[in-house]
Amino acid sequence: MRGPNLRKLNTNHLPRHPIIHSPSSTTQHFTNQIQRLPPLTYYTPPHTQSTQPSISKSLNTDQTHTHFGFHPLIHSPVAMAKPVSIEVWNPNGKYRVVSTKPMPGTRWINLLVQQDCRVEICTEKKTILSVEDIIALIGNKCDGVIGQLTEDWGDTLFSALAKAGGKAFSNMAVGYNNVDVDAATKYGVAVGNTPGVLTETTAELAASLSLAASRRIVEADEFMRAGLYDGWLPHLFVGNLLKGQTVGVIGAGRIGSAYARMMIEGFKMNLIYYDLYQATRLEKFVTAYGQFLKASGEQPVTWKRASSMDEVLQVADVISLHPILDKTTYHLINKERLSKMKKEAILINCSRGPVVDEEALVEHLKHNPMFRVGLDVFEDEPYMKPGLADMKNAIVVPHIASASKWTREGMATLAALNVVGKIKGFPTWSNPNAVDPFLDENSSPPPACPSIVNAKALGLPVSKL
Ligand SMILES: NC(=O)c1ccc[n+]([C@@H]2O[C@H](COP(=O)([O-])OP(=O)(O)OC[C@H]3O[C@@H](n4cnc5c(N)ncnc54)[C@H](O)[C@@H]3O)[C@@H](O)[C@H]2O)c1
Repeated sequence: MRGPNLRKLNTNHLPRHPIIHSPSSTTQHFTNQIQRLPPLTYYTPPHTQSTQPSISKSLNTDQTHTHFGFHPLIHSPVAMAKPVSIEVWNPNGKYRVVSTKPMPGTRWINLLVQQDCRVEICTEKKTILSVEDIIALIGNKCDGVIGQLTEDWGDTLFSALAKAGGKAFSNMAVGYNNVDVDAATKYGVAVGNTPGVLTETTAELAASLSLAASRRIVEADEFMRAGLYDGWLPHLFVGNLLKGQTVGVIGAGRIGSAYARMMIEGFKMNLIYYDLYQATRLEKFVTAYGQFLKASGEQPVTWKRASSMDEVLQVADVISLHPILDKTTYHLINKERLSKMKKEAILINCSRGPVVDEEALVEHLKHNPMFRVGLDVFEDEPYMKPGLADMKNAIVVPHIASASKWTREGMATLAALNVVGKIKGFPTWSNPNAVDPFLDENSSPPPACPSIVNAKALGLPVSKL
C-alpha cells in the first residue's frame, strides 16, 4: 500500500540548509553553474528515537555540520527497521534521489540539485549494504536511486522502489550483472549503467597487471622490502618479454579492444581474439599499424579472429578476459581450459570474478609455477578462494580497474544523469558509447539519459540530439 503523500509533509521543523533556503523552481535543462554545497546530516530513525546529534564531515568541504533531526520522509515500519546514516543536500528539493554510497566529485550532486532534487547519500560505515538497508533508504517516497555493483538489485528492491514512486535506478558501473533488469522492467523502473567512461581506465589496469605479471613486479617488490637483495644475479626474477609475443583477448568489446590496442601499440604484440562478434575497428587498427611498422622497416604486427576460444588459449602468451558476465561466460575459464593454456602463459581478469573458476585456478597455479595471473575481480568478492593469497604467481588487487579520478567522477555523473533524466522525462541518448558531451565540465550536459539498458523494453524515446 502506498504511504501518505510525503511531499506534503510539513518539514518546517527541520534545519534549513545554510545556503539553499527555498525550494528552487523546476528547470527543464541543465545549467552550467557549478555549486559547492555543504550537506546536512541525519540518521533515519531507529525504533526508539534518540535525540543525539549526528556529526559528519561534509563531502569535499572542510566544514563539519552538526544537526539534530530525523529523516523527514521515511516513516514506514519497514524503513524504521534500522537506522541508516545519511547526508542530505538541498533538503527542499522536489524529487528525492538516494545514492547508496558517497561517490567521487561534486558535479553529480550539483547536477541533481540544479534539477530540483533533494539528494540523500548513505554514509553508513558498511562496505556492502544489505537489501534491508536499501529498503530503509528507499523509504516510502523515493524518485530514484543510484546504486553499486555490490548490491543485489532484484525483485524485492525494485518492488520497494516502485511502491515509493521510483522511476529510475542506475548502477554506478558499466556491468549490471547484480541487477535483475526484467524485474525492473516489470515495475516500470529504468535501469541505467555507465559505459564509455570506464573503457580506457579499465584497459590500463589490465595492461598494468599484464606487465606486472610478466615482469614479476610484485614478487620483486616484496623481495626488496624484505631486505633480501644482496646484489645483481643473472637469474633474479627473470620474467617474460612481451614484444613479438601474442596477446589473446576474450571479449573484444569496448574494454577488450582498448586493451588490445595498448598491448599491440605499446609492446608490438600480435593479436588473437575471440568474440561472438567481429571487432572490425580493432582489426582495421592492427592492419594499419602493421603496415606502418613494415614501412618503418620493423616486423609488422598481425591479427587473427579465432574460431573458438580454445584456439586463443592454446596460442596466446598473455590472455586477458573482457566479456560480460552472463550464463554463457560463467566459469568460462575452468580446469579443462586452464590445461589448454601454455605452461608459462599469463592470464588477466578485469571483467567479473565468476568468469573464472577460482578454485580450479588456485590448483593450476600450484602445479604450474611459471603460469601467472593478474586478478582485479574474484568469484566471491570480497573474499578470495582458499590458497589464492599464498600464491606467489598471482597478483591480486581489490577491484580497482575503474579507479582513476576522471573515470570514477564520470561514472558518478553518468549515473546521476541517468536517474534525473528519467525522473524528468528526458529521452535516452542514442549512442551510450559516445558519452563525452555528458562529461565536459565546461558545458551543460544534454537533456537526455546517457545509458538506459531497458530503454527499448520500456518504450522510452530516443534523443534526436
Ligand atoms: N573490473 C572492473 O572494475 C570493471 C570495469 C569495467 C567493466 N568491467 C567488466 O568488463 C565487462 C566488459 O565491459 P565492456 O564495456 O568492454 O563491455 P562490452 O559489452 O563492450 O564488451 C563485452 C564483449 O564480450 C563479448 N562477449 C559476450 N559473451 C561472450 C562470450 N560468451 N564469449 C566471448 N565474448 C563474449 C561481447 O560480444 C562484447 O564484445 C563488463 O561487463 C564488466 O563486467 C569490469
